[in-house]
Amino acid sequence: MIYYKKYMPCALFLMLLTASVGQLTAQEKLPCLKKVFKKDFTIGTALNTAQIEERDPKAAALIAEQFNTATPENIMKAEIIHPKWDTYNFELADKMVAYCKKNNIAVNAHTLIWHSQLPRFAYGIQSVDSFKTFFTNHISTIAARYDGKVFSWDVVNEALNEDGTMRNSVFLKKLGDSFVTSAFRIAAAAAPNTELYYNDYNNEQPKKRAGCIALIKKIQEAGVRIDGVGIQGHWHLGKLPLKDIEESIEQYAAMGLKVMFTELDIEVLKRDFEGADVSQRMKSDPTMDPYKNGLPDSIQEKLAADYEALFALFLKHRDKIERVTFWGVDDGQSWLNGWPVPGRTNYPLLFDREFKAKPAFYKVIALKK
Ligand code: G3I
Repeated sequence: MIYYKKYMPCALFLMLLTASVGQLTAQEKLPCLKKVFKKDFTIGTALNTAQIEERDPKAAALIAEQFNTATPENIMKAEIIHPKWDTYNFELADKMVAYCKKNNIAVNAHTLIWHSQLPRFAYGIQSVDSFKTFFTNHISTIAARYDGKVFSWDVVNEALNEDGTMRNSVFLKKLGDSFVTSAFRIAAAAAPNTELYYNDYNNEQPKKRAGCIALIKKIQEAGVRIDGVGIQGHWHLGKLPLKDIEESIEQYAAMGLKVMFTELDIEVLKRDFEGADVSQRMKSDPTMDPYKNGLPDSIQEKLAADYEALFALFLKHRDKIERVTFWGVDDGQSWLNGWPVPGRTNYPLLFDREFKAKPAFYKVIALKK
């Protein structure tokens, strides 16, 4: 409640104004993230199909008001955009590009090469030559189609293990560890006007970060373009690795890279591991879902304090950070309601299930006052 007090006079004034002119909506009382941080970094969200199709007017209003960049949560992943060897399905991706253009939102396309959410046919490709053809066609067809229409691509996603070695993915098995450099080379040729990034989770952790730096150095030393690195930022309440994050911002920026936080959320429910490896799961039991009927104030305040500390760090390094993207608009949308335990009620974002700003939102905004 304390966080709202500061804005009450403004809110009261606006309510009176609303009543008198009958034009302002409830959301217009809110400060806008994209405006407040305009001189610091862009502010993004992940978008799902329902949001791109504007099925919920409240969500649509909030997205257009708060965010100036967006990442497709699923629809540009290979299993959707490239379902068969010679079949591409651009319908939803085109819709997203049009929706974002209409709302002045820059698109960070996600993702060209990822071991997860691959089309079934890709796992059945036997010969190395055929796999190379799939890999090359996939990247060049999609990257070329959206060049000039999207701002950037997560070219390769999650190629590393926690210890910094290469993940034993189908790409590594078929193409060897130069596949990451090859992916950037093909993307750079197909999309000369698009920024190209490497994206991962836990790559702020020292061991994985060292692997990430080595991987990126390899790309740079091959003379291939890479513009930036994304730290996903799937973190846990009370366990923000602020020191590791700060060191990572500094070390990645020193390599001439733009630094981005690309999938930010702070999980408030119990979990036995860190990160975002979608193959990891946990058993469901009632104690794992304690806030079904609402988040206690004490946890809400902890969440606000974590977001405040994180954004204070982001602002300290605003000269190196290009973008901060939340992995979803509101708590109801978050993938963390379904993973690693299905059917939980999670609260990781700045807006609640009714699209109302949470205390964490006001704490983050207050850093700029
Ligand atoms: O589309 C099907 C639908 O037809 C089916 O009825 C339903 C039943 O389960 O599943 C739907 O697919 C789901 C898909 O999201 C679309 O909603 C998948 O089961 C579900 O696994 C998938 O989860 C996505 C996850 O990536 C998959 O790997 C999450 O929405 C998405 O937020 C998440 O995003 C990833 C980033 O791309 C990379 N970094 C980690 C991050 C979080 O896992």
